[in-house]
Amino acid sequence: MFNKRIKIKTLLDSDKINYDATVMGWVRTFRNNQFIALNDGSTNNNIQIVVALGTLDDVTLKRITTGACIKALGEVVPSLGKGQKVELKATSVEILGDSDAEKFPLQPKKHSLEFLREIAHMRFRTNTFGAIFRVRHSLAYAVHKFYNDRGFVYMHTPIITASDAEGAGEMFKVTTFPLDGTAPKQEDGSINFKEDFFGRSTNLTVSGQLEGELAAMAFSEIYTFGPTFRAENSNTTRHLAEFWMIEPEVAFNDLEDNMDLAEDFIKFIIRYAIDNNKEDLEFLGLRLEEEEKQKPLGERSEMGLMEKLNFVVNNDFERLTYTEAIDILKESNHNKKKKFQYLIEGWGVDLQSEHERYLVEKHFKKPVILTNYPKEIKAFYMRQNDDGKTVAAMDILAPGIGEIVGGSQREERMDKLLERMKEMNIPAEELDWYLDTRRFGACPHAGFGLGFERLVLFVTGMTNIRDVIPFPRYPKSASF
Ligand code: 4AD
Ligand code: MG
Repeated sequence: MFNKRIKIKTLLDSDKINYDATVMGWVRTFRNNQFIALNDGSTNNNIQIVVALGTLDDVTLKRITTGACIKALGEVVPSLGKGQKVELKATSVEILGDSDAEKFPLQPKKHSLEFLREIAHMRFRTNTFGAIFRVRHSLAYAVHKFYNDRGFVYMHTPIITASDAEGAGEMFKVTTFPLDGTAPKQEDGSINFKEDFFGRSTNLTVSGQLEGELAAMAFSEIYTFGPTFRAENSNTTRHLAEFWMIEPEVAFNDLEDNMDLAEDFIKFIIRYAIDNNKEDLEFLGLRLEEEEKQKPLGERSEMGLMEKLNFVVNNDFERLTYTEAIDILKESNHNKKKKFQYLIEGWGVDLQSEHERYLVEKHFKKPVILTNYPKEIKAFYMRQNDDGKTVAAMDILAPGIGEIVGGSQREERMDKLLERMKEMNIPAEELDWYLDTRRFGACPHAGFGLGFERLVLFVTGMTNIRDVIPFPRYPKSASF
């Protein structure tokens, strides 16, 4: 077997010395024709490989360049240098893959995040992105652990669908028809999707919720975790056209149960990262501290990354209604001094991210759960409250991010649901399968969607969502 290596993290974490080991990885730096810093992605810490003079021929020495992939064999010994307990005294070095130092895009220096975004296919090999994607992995694992431990069934809802779960019309079409105008047409000139691959018009899913509700009406508790797609033209640091969402759906839960579940869930996965990704989070914390130093004093965050994460897991989220939030915003000095771009004048308006961030960052200084929004600004499936004006919705807002979760208790009463769909021009025939949940054994139920990248942003302290998904998709960009 070729791969008889020890992972660099395992080697560095152990106190064992004076044994032979093989390591493989990519060269970060090579100093004085003698010291190789090697990284294999298991940790940001490199193993120092010492090549004694005369061990290697000149040709091999020249091929040890930044970015090259090598296999090194030798003895693990205590290190005399600073920064590491042990190092590898090499007896042999084999080049597995050359890397032309002139052309290798990553130099041993600090690159800007913007530059690294342009070479997203190489940025995994930097410390920042190494840390981010190990943390992302842990968070994804913790999602499954949380729900599995509670007996939820993981449901794979479809990626291609004929329905618009949010009713917002922000969908990417899926078709095999040619785009040159020769697609089959109906008599009225519109495209005849009956002849298309699926025999109907289809799109990429914006949410797995509707199918999730069907499964919850059988398993009681399910969750989805998959990619979702939105063709909204939002060029912001918070929006992606392709993002991952976790959507639990629970039979017999009301709005309050739903909030409890969401709060427990968020705290669990953050705690999991604190417990399992200490080194990477501390690295990202230092990175953030450096970045904050560039900002004027008044704009710097009051807490460091670890402090912020610990604060969130140890404190209750603030819960209030949309109506209470509007009152706070309306009366705020910020509003009176016209510092909001969109001034809050009255009840009924949708909150912009500046308002959400004011509430969490300036007013409450902690995550906030807002409930009971006006029905006009929310989706058709949300349960209507007795006041005739609001629905049993809940959004969770996080400091530095804004909305991280959107959810609700669902309208389980068939007549009310049909009435709302009619008002919102949502064709009942197309969602007939969904309406069967209300026809046969309907029950109170609730669920929510957590935007996975927004959570990763929060936990890593990064500021642009394009830096926490490996290959971001956004308007005018689908490279790699
Ligand atoms: O609030 P949204 O649109 O809710 C739903 O899709 C519901 N079906 C969820 C449910 O009740 N099962 O989206 C949920 C979350 C948002 O709170 C946000 O965190 C994230 O998904 N999100 C996005 N993340 C990145 N880029 C985008 N364009 C996003 N749109 C929504
Ligand atoms: Mg939302």
